[in-house]
Amino acid sequence: MRRPILAANWKMHKTNAEAIDFAEAFVPLVAGADVDVVIAAPFTLLDRLGPKLAGSGIALAAQNVNPNESGAFTGEIAPAMLVDVGCRYAIVGHSERRALYGETDEVVSQKAVALLAHDIRPIVCVGETLEQRDAGAALSVVAQQLRGSLSEIPTTRAAEVVVAYEPVWAIGTGRTATPQIAQEVHESVRAVLSDLFGSTGAEIRIQYGGSVKPETVYDLMAQPDIDGALVGGASLDPEAFSRIVRFDREGAK
Ligand code: PGA
Repeated sequence: MRRPILAANWKMHKTNAEAIDFAEAFVPLVAGADVDVVIAAPFTLLDRLGPKLAGSGIALAAQNVNPNESGAFTGEIAPAMLVDVGCRYAIVGHSERRALYGETDEVVSQKAVALLAHDIRPIVCVGETLEQRDAGAALSVVAQQLRGSLSEIPTTRAAEVVVAYEPVWAIGTGRTATPQIAQEVHESVRAVLSDLFGSTGAEIRIQYGGSVKPETVYDLMAQPDIDGALVGGASLDPEAFSRIVRFDREGAK
């Protein structure tokens, strides 16, 4: 049984004071929720946000990492530095990083392996653009990204990986994929994972991301291959994100 995983992706938002206000409001709202909750915050917030989440079961995450151990990489953050501030997850290959910073499947794969070497779970993002979907290539694009991005993950570590399917056309647009469209892709992602990792593929959690809201999460989570959500905009507000985390109750219409 795959445990649901609801993750916030704060992107380039919040100061430390705002993050602490969020944590103080959010932690009590999700107390007792029987799911994994993750907050991927900007690097500057991790050291102070971590202690605010301690004891809540909510996991701290980064939004990126450099795959090297240390060295002359100005402006970069190494996996050991994420361990140092208590990160248990890190997002890799987000479509914004692929599109704006040239992150390739090969780099994403290196980052995922580097994270696992430090016992940080990678959240590996994949997803097609609108042009690719309109050309009928959504499933093949996602499969190719997956194979490239997971190419160096050994089967023994694969269950620690989380995959996030985020159609680029749904990110920040208010245009959530329908549960049926999302499920179709998640089912094909599951098939690729089984092909790559055998029976371990069935243990890997697949999140949907792209304009997830309290009102849409319940129907998405009802799909057989949707195991969680990666949430941008709606995760910035503690009340909205807590409703997403509690999809089984308050998210229901
Ligand atoms: P969104 O972002 O929820 O604001 O669409 C999701 C993401 O990019 O992870």
